Amino acid sequence: MYELLKEIMKPLSVSGREESVRRVIEKAVEPYVDEVYTDALGNLIAHKRGGEGSQKLMLAAHMDEIGFFVTDIDDKGMIHFSNAGGIRFDTTAYSEVVFENGTRGILVGNDDASSFSLDTCYVDIGAKTRSEAAKKVKTGDTFAVASNIRRLPGGRLVGRPFDDRIGCAILVEAAKRADVSPYDVYYVFTVQEEVGCRGSRTAAYAIMPDIAIAVDITKTGDTPGAPKMAVKLGGGAGIKIKDNSVICDPALVDKMIEVAKARGAKYQLEILTMGGTDTSSMQAAGAGCSAGCISIPTRYAHTPLEMIDWGDVNACLELTIGMIEG
Ligand code: CO
Ligand code: ZN
Repeated sequence: MYELLKEIMKPLSVSGREESVRRVIEKAVEPYVDEVYTDALGNLIAHKRGGEGSQKLMLAAHMDEIGFFVTDIDDKGMIHFSNAGGIRFDTTAYSEVVFENGTRGILVGNDDASSFSLDTCYVDIGAKTRSEAAKKVKTGDTFAVASNIRRLPGGRLVGRPFDDRIGCAILVEAAKRADVSPYDVYYVFTVQEEVGCRGSRTAAYAIMPDIAIAVDITKTGDTPGAPKMAVKLGGGAGIKIKDNSVICDPALVDKMIEVAKARGAKYQLEILTMGGTDTSSMQAAGAGCSAGCISIPTRYAHTPLEMIDWGDVNACLELTIGMIEG
């Protein structure tokens, strides 16, 4: 799965511009399902048909990443932008960024600024004038901090964007490995999660699942200054109880715990006090459904250097497969 993850992490996929990663995932998942299609918003839906009258299980991982849209180029050739999703400018300044067409630059902060923000940061691609920059970049182009992945000792990985390509990789791998399911299974690779869970909303409306499970990252509480939460890196798959946008179905939470125990997958219960996932939009789509979330513990989420633990990834995969197999 590591090679698959590396492939899935490479393409730039700012919210609303998910085409290139979708192509990679489509090719990877196609052999393991009955049909694959893309809907009006760009969600990729891989469907493995269940028996007559079986319940619908929708699994969702988002393809988009936080990033930027070019708004303007100034006289000095500096590029100004708007953000897509929750950018932490304190950690993003002085990073290398890459545009859709492969142009590279650095996102820097105004020297006078005591704190970094959308207003004080800009991108320098080395152009001397507006017209020189305009040959490489135009309004509406997207960019993000360059993707990267490195192995650290102890089975840990650092890089970006693990949010949520690791969830995408887990779904593809689960589709590959899962045995016969009692459900009609929809593996959905969603768009525009980082700007408000938009893709999963329309996909869930169209599918009308009985059960919906998001596979996405969560924060951890195990570093200096981290938010107060019980989740630890290396503590196993996160089983979400609630976050700011959703309260998961307690019966589904219990079922996840049962499945994790039965399969020997290490797990931990998760309450995230800041942030949300596709779980919320799937739960509230149409007449609603039973919704939950399998969370990959991630340190330094939404920074250029997110950190995950390979043991946790395998626990999340095992739990996901367990939920598919019922
Ligand atoms: Co995110
Ligand atoms: Zn996410």
